[in-house]
Amino acid sequence: MAYRLAPLFCRPWTLNGMTPRLIENHYELNYGDALRRLNAVSAELDALDPAATSAETINRLKRDETAALNSTLLHELYFASLGGDGRAVPPVMAAALERDFSSVDRWRRQFMALAEQLAGGSGWVLLTWLPRDQRLVNQSGSDHNQGIAGGIPVLALDMYEHAYQLDFGSNATAYVAAFMRNIDWNAVQGRFEDAAKVPPPRPLEQKEFGDVPAISVEQVRAMIDAGTPMQLIDARPRHYTTRSHEIMEGAVWRDPERVDDWVGELDREQKVVTYCVYGFHVGCQTAIALRKAGFDACYMAGGHYAWKAAGGKVRLFDS
Ligand SMILES: [Fe+2]
Repeated sequence: MAYRLAPLFCRPWTLNGMTPRLIENHYELNYGDALRRLNAVSAELDALDPAATSAETINRLKRDETAALNSTLLHELYFASLGGDGRAVPPVMAAALERDFSSVDRWRRQFMALAEQLAGGSGWVLLTWLPRDQRLVNQSGSDHNQGIAGGIPVLALDMYEHAYQLDFGSNATAYVAAFMRNIDWNAVQGRFEDAAKVPPPRPLEQKEFGDVPAISVEQVRAMIDAGTPMQLIDARPRHYTTRSHEIMEGAVWRDPERVDDWVGELDREQKVVTYCVYGFHVGCQTAIALRKAGFDACYMAGGHYAWKAAGGKVRLFDS
């Protein structure tokens, strides 16, 4: 099963001192690349026969998969962390930081010290909730390989030498075989059942457009691949398209300010999919206007950049 792309949640034009261009590039190139790598390596793992593949190859692919998965998850969290004013810590969050770090200020200093140490290098600084200890911790992770963010392990094999040296000397193979024979699968299942009850992160809903039907970029691509007839309308604002060189393949640009001028060109029998730059406001409002006019219209979540980040085809835009 392919991992799905998450639309950009923050509104890039509202950020203070960070340009939409920075966010667009980061989202499209780094996040998009991580997700595409993740899906490519997952597909490779699904397709190979573990019995006929070397352990080294499987290990390399799994390492690549973990790095791409963590990069994907952490980028989504990063983009979902932006968009506020940075100053007002709401009461519940402030109380939690005070409890676990003595004060919000101490938390902030520690968090920023970790960031400082990574300057010039690479990695992530995270504020992380530990369900086990019901507390918050700051964490610095180099690369993308510091465990699955939010993951809850249910089975663990300790491969440090201290775990087997006394009984098996350096014979790790014998140790692993013994471990496999001693797994308590009832306990593993019990932990799995508990873990499965932990709810996933709440969906990031654009509440003001909650009742407008949305379609994901993956669904649109599947419809295109299947030859499903639809009318794809690029409804990016004119001021934006004048500086854009690309448009989704198969889409036509229509001015969202002048829906009445072009609505007559549409086929009433065919589904209409509209989108804008990031998938908020303009694309949604165009979909609402078309629905009011009696069309089966929806908006493509994430818009132009989600399409590009998912590796969708674009063509040169000559307006
Ligand atoms: Fe990044």
